[in-house]
Amino acid sequence: MAKRLVVLVSGSGTNLQALLDAIATQGTAVYGAEIVAVGADRDGIVGLERAERAGLPTFVRRVRDYATREEWDAALAEATAAYEPDLVVSAGFMKIVGKEFLARFGGRFVNTHPALLPSFPGAHGVRDALAYGAKVTGCTVHFVDDGVDTGPIIAQGVVEVRDEDDEAALHERIKEVERRLLVDVVGRLARHGHRIEGRKVVIP
Ligand code: GRF
Repeated sequence: MAKRLVVLVSGSGTNLQALLDAIATQGTAVYGAEIVAVGADRDGIVGLERAERAGLPTFVRRVRDYATREEWDAALAEATAAYEPDLVVSAGFMKIVGKEFLARFGGRFVNTHPALLPSFPGAHGVRDALAYGAKVTGCTVHFVDDGVDTGPIIAQGVVEVRDEDDEAALHERIKEVERRLLVDVVGRLARHGHRIEGRKVVIP
């Protein structure tokens, strides 16, 4: 049985698109997973348009519509849980989830980050690596824990920094690697399952 994915987005959704394309090309049975819904923390983003174009249900839970961050987190968890996902994928979802979300989806909530963790966590991984003068950077697909980009690493991809790079150019090259890595990792998790041993993720 194909695994059920809920994908969370905040922006252009090219990582979501890569998953959609892989599933469409390979077929749900071969890829091992289907996207059952797409969630966001804001309206009017291309990521949601991509979901709608693919005929998928969407939901939006905005922090500012809730009295507290905890209430927002619970609402996001509830909306996600309604689609009974096996895995939740944060594909450029620019919010830190809270206790309730992690209580429900911890250990099966995957994030992609545009730097080689544990270097350059946070919202500006590309800019920070460039400013630091790093010669290589890349992307990290990892499980989310209660820290900021601190959870167990599933896979990483390396990208060389060029002298002439600005943030946009470097991020674009990282995203090419990131999309392939995310598609590969999510498919493997769906088909083979995984276990987390301390900090190590094992996909049998
Ligand atoms: C990715 O690089 C992700 O790691 C970062 O934001 C980007 C999202 O891109 N947090 P997209 O919305 O999937 O195009």
